[in-house]
Amino acid sequence: MTAVPPGGTGPPGGSDVPDVDALRAALDGVGYLADDALATALFLALRMGQPLLLEGEPGVGKTRAATALAEALGTTLLRLQCYEGLTAGEALYEWNYPRQLLSIRLAESRGVELGDADLFTEDYLLARPLLAAITHPGPGPAVLLIDEIDRADDEFEAFLFEMLAESAVTIPELGTRRAVVPPVAVLTSNRTRDLHDALKRRCLYHWIGYPDPRRVEEIIRRRVPGAADWLAARVADAVQRFRGLDLLKPPGVAEAISWTTALHVLGVTELDVPAAERTLGAVLKYAEDSDAARAAGLATLISRA
Ligand SMILES: Nc1ncnc2c1ncn2[C@@H]1O[C@H](COP(=O)(O)OP(=O)(O)O)[C@@H](O)[C@H]1O
Ligand SMILES: [Mg+2]
Repeated sequence: MTAVPPGGTGPPGGSDVPDVDALRAALDGVGYLADDALATALFLALRMGQPLLLEGEPGVGKTRAATALAEALGTTLLRLQCYEGLTAGEALYEWNYPRQLLSIRLAESRGVELGDADLFTEDYLLARPLLAAITHPGPGPAVLLIDEIDRADDEFEAFLFEMLAESAVTIPELGTRRAVVPPVAVLTSNRTRDLHDALKRRCLYHWIGYPDPRRVEEIIRRRVPGAADWLAARVADAVQRFRGLDLLKPPGVAEAISWTTALHVLGVTELDVPAAERTLGAVLKYAEDSDAARAAGLATLISRA
């Protein structure tokens, strides 16, 4: 067991990354380009042992920031995808009922009767991401990604808040499990609703905006290495112009990557209107948005900056 330094200076694994620049370089090494503000937020989460709430539009790199952090630290990633109706049980642990039943039958066939003490043990416990994060043995902290928390219900948020505050989980049948190495928690939200103040107060906060075109170009080059440099630049500029239209779903980084991939796969040598038309479905996801782009003039939208 590794001691956590006094004064809440956070999980010991954080010391493997001496400063923000080192973390940024490590993220770069796994193909994630973080600007200074995001790298600082992640570094502080790591060092302070405080959860980080990442908010931003869909497709700006929130989820990948957390998975890249785990990769860069060389640690375990535990991921909880939130959805409406998600319960504490599904997020924390469940009892393996089929296995318990089997054991009961087996015991019965031998004329033995099993009680709760036999059936509610470690052997029948199915750890879900939150319990797995709490019981992670270390030496470094695991990264706990709680993805799209805005999709979960109020009750779940309240439950999560308590769990994060205590870094402990009580299983009535087994007792309290306290984190040996508290996880680095990264929560993401697409901001479809506002989160509770109590949860926000508990977390560090960072808003990930849509990156400027030159950074998008850089991201595309990293993510679609086979594509020509001119194509990455043209797509980044065009996506920026698309985002200036009044669209139902403005394209994000994910769409810029996907569009470049589509153009590259088709082997286009010039981003002209026919090429854009053939691949528009990679970047715009509503018929209304495609119509809006055509009305604004595809030729202008994709022209050289
Ligand atoms: N800064 C970045 N560096 C590298 N790839 C990125 C970056 N931002 C976004 N991406 C890529 O864009 C896509 C969408 O990112 P994702 O994390 O799923 O977005 P979000 O969770 O915000 O909806 C992923 O393929 C991701 O790898
Ligand atoms: Mg996501």
